[in-house]
Formats: sequence, C-alpha cells, structure tokens
Amino acid sequence: MHIHILGSAAGGGFPQWNCNCRNCHGVRAGTVNARPRTQSSIAISEDGERWILCNASPDIRAQLAAFAPMQPARAVRDTGIAAILLMDSQVDHTTGLLSLREGCPLPVWCTEQVHDDLSHGFPLFTMLSHWNGGLDWRPMPCGDDTRFTVDCAPSLQLTAIPLLSNAPPYSPRRDNPHPGDNVGLFIEDRRTGASVLYAPGLGQPDDRIRAWMRRADVLLVDGTVWSDDEMKRCEVGDKTGQQMGHLAQSGPGGMIELLDTLDARRKILIHINNTNPILDEDSAERAELERHGIEVAWDGMHLDLTEVS
Ligand code: MLT
Ligand code: MN
Ligand code: ZN
Repeated sequence: MHIHILGSAAGGGFPQWNCNCRNCHGVRAGTVNARPRTQSSIAISEDGERWILCNASPDIRAQLAAFAPMQPARAVRDTGIAAILLMDSQVDHTTGLLSLREGCPLPVWCTEQVHDDLSHGFPLFTMLSHWNGGLDWRPMPCGDDTRFTVDCAPSLQLTAIPLLSNAPPYSPRRDNPHPGDNVGLFIEDRRTGASVLYAPGLGQPDDRIRAWMRRADVLLVDGTVWSDDEMKRCEVGDKTGQQMGHLAQSGPGGMIELLDTLDARRKILIHINNTNPILDEDSAERAELERHGIEVAWDGMHLDLTEVS
C-alpha cells in the first residue's frame, strides 16, 4: 500500500492566518526553521492510482494540486479520489467536501454520529444533496471486530476503532463524546501483511487502542500539542489539549512515554498544531523526539509499504 501525507497540521494549518505566535510569526518571517503545513489529511492506495481520501481538509485544493497521482488523468472530468473516509466531523477534516462538489456523487464513509453532525450542526450532507446526488453516505462500521473494505482497494482491510477524543462544538455530544464520534483507522494490507494505524485525534489512549498500536508496523498518531496547556502558554487561547481531545507529547502519561513502549517500525506524529515547538526543527523538543525515534509528518511525506514485511 501507499500512504501519502496531504496535510500534516492541525486545524488552522501552519502558519495559521490570524496567528502571530512564535512559530507562525517565525515561519512567515523566515526566522524559525520550519515547513509550512496544510490541514490534516492523508491518502491511501492499494494500486497507486485509485486513492482513499482520509479526511477532507479545507486545504484540499492545494493538496491535490501538489500530488499528481490524484489529479484527473483518464477522462475529461476525472479524479484519483475513489472513496472518502472521515475520522470525525471536525471542520478541519470535513470542510474540503464543499470544494469537491463538482465531483458529486461522492462515496463518503463515516459513522452514524459523524453523519448526524454533518446533517444537522454542520449540514454538509444536506447542502451537497443539491449537487448531482451529493454525498453518498456509506455507514462506517466501528469497533474491534468490524473490518470493512472499499471497492478501490480490495486487499486493504480497514477497521475503524472508536477513540476517546471530543466531538466538535456544533455536535450535541460536545464534551460528552460517544463511540463513533472519533475513530482511528487501522489498515492492513492482505498481500504484504503491512499495517498502519492512523489516529489524528487521540485524547486518552485506552487499553483497546493500545492493543491496536502494538499491532501496527507504522503509527501515524496525534501530534497536536507538546504540552497540555500550550495554547495558554502561547497566549492564543484557553483550551487545553485534553479539552480538545488531544494527548500531549511531553510529561507523564504523554505520547512520547506511550510510544516508547511500542516496537512499531515507524512512529510518526501528525495533526500538529501551529503552537507546537516540535515544528521548529532546531528546537530542544524536536531533538527530544529524535532521541525517541519519533518522526514529525510533513506535507508530501510518502510511505511506500509495497514490500512484503
Ligand atoms: C481539533 O482537532 O480539536 C479541531 O480540529 C480543532 C479545530 O480546528 O477547531
Ligand atoms: Mn483537528
Ligand atoms: Zn500560531
């Protein structure tokens, strides 16, 4: 299988349009050694031609422009996007659907909860029904024993695992998340045995997700904040990582400590908030990640997992 990182930043992207924090200012001014990043999304493919878009970010137009294999190639109107999977109903993971309206009908896999949020609080399904069949909802089963496949990738076994994170502000389940509000995706290639876990919103890693993390060859997991009170420290907001449903990297019980217990071939952080010091490639925090063998995803990062492992 192939995995292409379309966008590696959290909501707002990096730099965020209205942010003047050390990182955002520094990357604009060229005084911080960091790459700009678009908002959270990856693409997965079995054959390198037909792609599963995992989350549809507001930056989708630039992301597709930067990745030729997903561009039109076979017909006058065409796309490499064969299916869309949503991990939650957050703005940074769904707003790109509006930009894909010219391609409707589009098959969109998501849980009942996500479909409900996107039919009421943020009614993308309702609105887009006015564009040539709109979004064709494929209910995504969610749970440890609920494997599914999508037509374009019959060898890729997919499992959506319920995660403890948070529902968006327009959800009736905000601050009271239920299984299905946030999922992680475990992808296993039947041909090679290679497996990847993608979990951009992971607030509290319970035993169930830890077991999936132990199984995965490659981890692409929540890298939103370095410290739980980072937004406050940077004077950009009051919300903690936990309130937003994101586990911080540093400190006791943090993501670094958790990743240290695992043997995955690659441990990669994704969905990085613009305040996170790890974006600065010369920072002490970035050096600490390196000492733990942890990578930071970047836009355009490509994982070729086509060899038998
Ligand atoms: C999150 O991941 O917590 C959300 O995307 C934050 C946001 O962009 O509003
Ligand atoms: Mn987000
Ligand atoms: Zn910022």
